[in-house]
Amino acid sequence: MKLPPLVLLSAIFFSGIFAMECKKGIHYCGRSLLKNDEIDQLFVSLNKAGVKNATEHIVLESIFECLPTRDGQVSFEHHRSALGIGETAPRVSWRFQGKVSDWEQSSYELEVKRAGQEAENFHIDSAESVLVSWPSTALESGEEAIVRVRSFGPDSKHNTPWSDAVAVEPGLLTPDDWQDAAVIASARPTEVNETHRPIQFRKDFSLEQSYVSARLYITALGLYEAHLNGKRIGDHVLAPGWQSYHNRHEYNTYDVTDMLKQGPNALGVTVGEGWYSGRLGFNEGRRNIYGDTLGLLSLLVITKSDGSKLYIPSDDTWQSNIGPIVTSEIYDGERYDSRLEQKGWLQPGFNSSGWLGVHEISFPKGRLAAPDAPPVRRVEEHKLKDVFQSASGKTVLDFGQNLVGWLRIRVKGPKGQTIKFLHTEVMEDGEVATRPLRYAKATDHFTLSGEGVEQWEPSFTFHGFRYVQVDGWPEDTTPLDENSITAVVVHSDMERTGYFECSDPLVSKLHQNILWSMRGNFLSIPTDCPQRDERLGWTGDIHAFSKTANFIYDTAGFLRGWLKDARSEQLNNSYAPPYVIPNVLGPSTPTSIWGDSIVAVPWELYEAFGDKVMLKEQYPGAQDWIDKGISRNEVGLWNRSTFQYADWLDPKAPPDDPGDATTNKYLVSDAYLLHSTDLLANISAALSMDEAPSKYSDWHSDLTKEFQKAWISPNGTMANETQTGLALPLYFDLFPTSQQANSAANRLAQLVQANDYKVGTGFAGTHLLGHTLSKYDKDDAFYQMLMQTETPSWLYQVVMNGTTTWERWDSMLPNGSVNSGEMTSFNHYAVGSVASWIHSVAGGLRPAEPGWKRIHIEVVPGGGLTHASTRFETPYGVTSTKWQLGSPGDSCDGSDFHLMVEVPPNTRATVVLPGPGGETYDIGSGSYEYHVACLE
Ligand code: BGC
Repeated sequence: MKLPPLVLLSAIFFSGIFAMECKKGIHYCGRSLLKNDEIDQLFVSLNKAGVKNATEHIVLESIFECLPTRDGQVSFEHHRSALGIGETAPRVSWRFQGKVSDWEQSSYELEVKRAGQEAENFHIDSAESVLVSWPSTALESGEEAIVRVRSFGPDSKHNTPWSDAVAVEPGLLTPDDWQDAAVIASARPTEVNETHRPIQFRKDFSLEQSYVSARLYITALGLYEAHLNGKRIGDHVLAPGWQSYHNRHEYNTYDVTDMLKQGPNALGVTVGEGWYSGRLGFNEGRRNIYGDTLGLLSLLVITKSDGSKLYIPSDDTWQSNIGPIVTSEIYDGERYDSRLEQKGWLQPGFNSSGWLGVHEISFPKGRLAAPDAPPVRRVEEHKLKDVFQSASGKTVLDFGQNLVGWLRIRVKGPKGQTIKFLHTEVMEDGEVATRPLRYAKATDHFTLSGEGVEQWEPSFTFHGFRYVQVDGWPEDTTPLDENSITAVVVHSDMERTGYFECSDPLVSKLHQNILWSMRGNFLSIPTDCPQRDERLGWTGDIHAFSKTANFIYDTAGFLRGWLKDARSEQLNNSYAPPYVIPNVLGPSTPTSIWGDSIVAVPWELYEAFGDKVMLKEQYPGAQDWIDKGISRNEVGLWNRSTFQYADWLDPKAPPDDPGDATTNKYLVSDAYLLHSTDLLANISAALSMDEAPSKYSDWHSDLTKEFQKAWISPNGTMANETQTGLALPLYFDLFPTSQQANSAANRLAQLVQANDYKVGTGFAGTHLLGHTLSKYDKDDAFYQMLMQTETPSWLYQVVMNGTTTWERWDSMLPNGSVNSGEMTSFNHYAVGSVASWIHSVAGGLRPAEPGWKRIHIEVVPGGGLTHASTRFETPYGVTSTKWQLGSPGDSCDGSDFHLMVEVPPNTRATVVLPGPGGETYDIGSGSYEYHVACLE
């Protein structure tokens, strides 16, 4: 007979178990919260408990654990770095570290110090520590403030120390701030229907007086790489990234104080076509979408010691030339000829007599804007794993990981020899598989100058690859090995926030693969894939993936910028968000799921970051879509003659027709329409939008009835009893009665079982399937799907040695050949949306209210997993779960459940334990342990 589970709560307080915690070496953040006599008492009890060096444990390690910090810093709005931001009154946030028990902030003090002024101090009674209002007067363009903060705990007694002091500085906020800077183009005639050769711009100037600081403000009609006195400025690559340039054109701000010198100086900037005027779009694509001429706009502002400013603007005194980069294209790669390098062109005093002049061209069409997203950077280097011969004898490099970026080479060889690098994701029939690249050549060429060891990496292209076929490498002079070649991984440099690992190596690997596909596709904009002739901001893909993305990285700034472009593009497309943003495909008809992203992505951002200001910014887009963008039939559902992607890439769709799904397109579209209307009602309510919440909730209930008439029979059967056809109305609460819903959930579970726990969903259903089954307590069914290794399944891609998630469940067929369809990317994040289920069910972590001020912790063990660890950096600090089934001395045959959780300061959590009892605890910050004996 089984005993009822024995549930034991081990909360960590000042006595008893606390001593055990010290023994385990867990830091405790309590020094400043304890009075001296309490500390003495603690030492006594610790000594009794046999803890040695208690003083060190408690006193030395404690107080430093309480610092409010975000990477050791205070942060502003959603910026990772606050130099050159677009806000004049940026909201301020700080995070907490440490495991202090039950700590909530009661007030905070912000200190703001501006040049030449006394520090201002603001003491505010508030529990808010995320995105609090700027307390001082607004900052001006280029004005720096130094900010630090400290927090006071309950009773205003237990304060944290001051945080680090962090600088915040707006960029150039108005067009006038650009002084006399003009956009300049080379006097060289521009190419018309072909790729644009990159242009080098240079300017000598002299600085006579001493100076205190210098800032470079810069952007390009194209992509730029800037240098001052021969040194590369900053560490951004592919800057200024891709925006909807017609509407919003970002510039960057750099602190170049330390690169400048008194006397002669030189600025040198290379501009390539990038997304601005390069070829974009599938098949032949289109060129010159935003303009046909490469241009540079920059302003160097030097603050001299006497406080006056010296401006060095881009203007007609600059010079231009072509250089060693012969071509550099996003899809096709770069051709670099070292023989064409002009030594010294980046240095002052270079003889530029043969150089061409420049002329002024019009200012960017889009509003000049400071970035919301972090820049694209080189974030990692990946070592070469293997060099081998292909079936036909070609030399192929294997980096062991499908990644996005480029190669960096160090090579010595004969002058004029050209090395060719062809990048692919997979091998097929023993050769690099180029078919999935479609019209992208993904090939770099490097021609040697013959002068010693040459180091090179491309500037204005990127590739998605694991394998590289190399032709023409000078083996005689340089061995082709990890010393001569490495892979550079690039993406938007967001802060990593979410981690998961568990006892099943395949599931842990799946999570790694999901991470890699996110990294590869968060490159300036959220793309579908990084390798073929697309790499576009497909809206349906981020709709499916945003919940997962928001956990793995801090995406707030990244998606905020992209959603600004979504709004502009929507306004240019009759209120329907185009299929891709930035829109390079021309007018798009209104389409569900892809269009619904303008409601769903803001909602997911709000759930993750709790930012109502950002939500309000995004509200008009969501509202216009529902009010005016959707093409409806007479009852308000989707117009039946509209084009729909719907459950795109249903695993049963034939390879050559990925839209030919088993679930009716309008059923899918209508279900999402209902969901978006519901979300809009929620958004309106969150923003307290007068009559809007009831308007949209009324609308939602009227339309639900129409949905039921159209798609649900009186006995509760769906018109399409498929995985997607059942999951959507279940997840979106569209069944008329809970009885019908419960029986539909049973049928969904049966369908899944009858399909041998293989996936039957495409883009519309996949990201909701697990959440739907869990909503109806069918976690076991979804665990079985997660553990399935035959296609279509998540782990199939893992057992086929995938290192990213794929576009198709079977982009690679079981026999190792590449799926014959056109859509066979090996780096698409949409199916990786399963991670949001993994984090919240296997990991047990989700926000109980937007922004994680309250956390819901509910691990559901299953799938044969014996342990899992999940960690998330909330806007307040770290929350984590670590659970294990079975432990030494387990009396229940491996079913003892042991859970450790962390709750960050200034938050509370609800913990629900597994088992029939489902004991629930309401806890404050701290570390806790729970034990459920003999879990069924
Ligand atoms: C992309 C998808 C995208 C789709 C639209 C494809 O080419 O790669 O991910 O959402 O088109 O159906």
